[in-house]
Order: sequence, then structure tokens, then C-alpha cells
Amino acid sequence: MISKSFQGKLAVVTGAGSGIGRKLVLNLARQGCEVAACDIQREAVEETVALAGGGRDDRVRAYVFDVADREAFFRHADLIKSDFGRPANLIINNAGVGLGASVREMRWEDFEWLMGINFWGVCYGTQAFLPQLIESGDGHVVNVSSIYGMISGPLTSAYNAAKFGVRGYTESLRIEMRAERLPVEVSCVHPGGIRTNIAKTSRLTTTAGLDQADFSKWFERITLTSPDKAAAIIIDGIRHNRPRILVGPDARVIDLMQRTLGIRYQWVAGVLLNPLMYGKSKNAAAASPPPAPASAEPATKSARKRAVKNAKSLVTDGAEAEPESAACILR
Ligand SMILES: NC(=O)c1ccc[n+]([C@@H]2O[C@H](COP(=O)([O-])OP(=O)(O)OC[C@H]3O[C@@H](n4cnc5c(N)ncnc54)[C@H](O)[C@@H]3O)[C@@H](O)[C@H]2O)c1
Repeated sequence: MISKSFQGKLAVVTGAGSGIGRKLVLNLARQGCEVAACDIQREAVEETVALAGGGRDDRVRAYVFDVADREAFFRHADLIKSDFGRPANLIINNAGVGLGASVREMRWEDFEWLMGINFWGVCYGTQAFLPQLIESGDGHVVNVSSIYGMISGPLTSAYNAAKFGVRGYTESLRIEMRAERLPVEVSCVHPGGIRTNIAKTSRLTTTAGLDQADFSKWFERITLTSPDKAAAIIIDGIRHNRPRILVGPDARVIDLMQRTLGIRYQWVAGVLLNPLMYGKSKNAAAASPPPAPASAEPATKSARKRAVKNAKSLVTDGAEAEPESAACILR
């Protein structure tokens, strides 16, 4: 497999003011890559650039715009090309937000806010930079989905819709680039839980379950991977032109669970996630295991027990580095 170098390349990273995006910028800069670091928060992205030592020689520069604003994204693609004097080689569409809301209670303004950033922002970034990536002769599109682009959970329908959408869009793009023999690699990234600020900045509008404090605490408990490690895994995946980059032991387990259980994953996900997501809900039914749908239910009680046991052992076996913390997802 071809392994590429980042030395002397030009990368664009969105959501560069925090978490995974910031660590991607620092990692790429260390490898001699020029980076356009983009975020909606000026102070945060300028701090990233300062940490990367970008102020010294303009190798890392800050750009401030909203990825959900299509015109702004296309304008910035032109600006970045003219500032650096050449086309970009790599776009990492990483900016993202969270939303906890049941379908029943979802406000359109929240749904549209999330889709604007997590889905449309990825499409705008891809299409704004695609001409430059082709022109560079050595391009790469990296779109950040999630494990929630592989399985769904309760109260995450909007996030699931965006992240499944990103996966479908990105995988189709990869097939097209190959069919048209264009010099652009394409990778879709599926992080598991990464210790970042995303839970703190998520909107939680559900009345059925968690409040913001519970959610942040729960998120801290289940996140297995540091943003530094996540960035290193993503960059290694890009280097090896991987079509699907799984980040963290939980992502590997969920990938395996989805592939081996098929649609039955829904029942296991309900058993594992409902008590966590619905928390101290007054709605007792919400926090107890869901009745399995006829098509998804393992045939017998013992088969159901086996399915949960398998999911538990998948989690612990998959967590090579931190089995203790991996197991906590099930507590
Ligand atoms: N942290 C996790 O557990 C996890 C898991 C799976 C997927 N992801 C995905 O990884 C990506 C990065 O998330 P993170 O955990 O580093 O989050 P984070 O909150 O630490 O960082 C997200 C960054 O995106 C920026 N941003 C938000 N809205 C924006 C907008 N409209 N325009 C431009 N920038 C905007 C924020 O200012 C912030 O700097 C997201 O797409 C997220 O959905 C994260």
C-alpha cells in the first residue's frame, strides 16, 4: 500500500479550534505540512495557530467562517488558494456539533442547525475544494462521520441522519474518483468516543432524558480515546489511503457488532444505550430494555442473553489499550 508524506503539502482543516481538529493541525504542522486552520470561533482557532508556531512563518494560518454558509466556504477556498499561492492537497471536513433530542420533540431549528454544520458543511467543503485537489495532482478528501454513521441510538436521530449521510456521500465520492481516474483519494472517518468539548457544546432539548450535566458526565465516562491519539490514527489512515478510518477501540467493536449482528444491533444498542441516554427519566419505560422488534429479536431468551454477552465481550476484547474503560460503556 502506498504511504504518503505530508511534507510540503497544503491541508485545510475545519473545526480547528478545539478537540480533534486542533490536534490534526498540530500533527500536520509537525510533519512539515502547511495548514489552513478554519473555525467559527476566532479566538480558539488563533490559539491553535499559535500552538502550531504558525505566527512565525505563516505556514499555519487561521480562517474564520461558518461551514454551514455555502458562499462563505467557497469564498474561503479561493482565499486560501491565493494566500498560499497554490491549490490545496487535503481537506479535512471535521467541524461538528451534537444534538440530543427525540424525534417526537425535535425542533426544526435544532435539526436544521445540526444538518447545516454536520452534513451540508461537509458537502460544501468537499465541493469547494475538489477542483483544487484535482489540480494539485495529489488530493485527498477526509470527511469526519462517527460510529453514529454506522449504528443509530436513542435521542440521536439528527446526528445519525447527518453522519450516515456523510458516510454515504463520501463513499460514493470515492467510487467516482476511481471511476473517473482522478487523482483524489477519499476517506471517511468514524471516531468512537473522543475526549473533547463536544458534549459541553451539544444542544440537549429532550425532556425525556439526560440534562446537560448528566450528559457531560456520561460522555467523560465512556470516552476511551484522547484527541491526540485520534488525530494520530486519522493521519495514519490518510497516509495509507484507507477508505474507512475507525478511531478507537469502541469504533472497532461497533463496526464488528454492526457487521456481525446485522439489523439485530438495534436491540443490543437499545439494551446498552437506553439506560444511559434516558438517565433518570420520569418515564420508567424509557429506561428499561426495549421490547425487541419481531424482525430483530434473537429467537429465544437464551439467544438474547448470548447477544448481550457477545456485545459485552466485543467491547472488552476490542479495547486492547484500555479494557477497563471500555467495559464501563456497559455499566
Ligand atoms: N468527540 C467525539 O466523541 C466524537 C465522536 C464521533 C465523531 N466526532 C466528530 O468529530 C468532529 C470533531 O469533533 P470534536 O469532538 O473535536 O468537537 P469539538 O467540539 O471539540 O470541536 C469542534 C470544533 O468545530 C467548530 N465548529 C462548530 N460549529 C462550526 C461551524 N458552524 N463552522 C465552523 N466551525 C465550527 C467548533 O468551534 C469547535 O472548535 C465532529 O464532526 C464530531 O461530530 C466526535
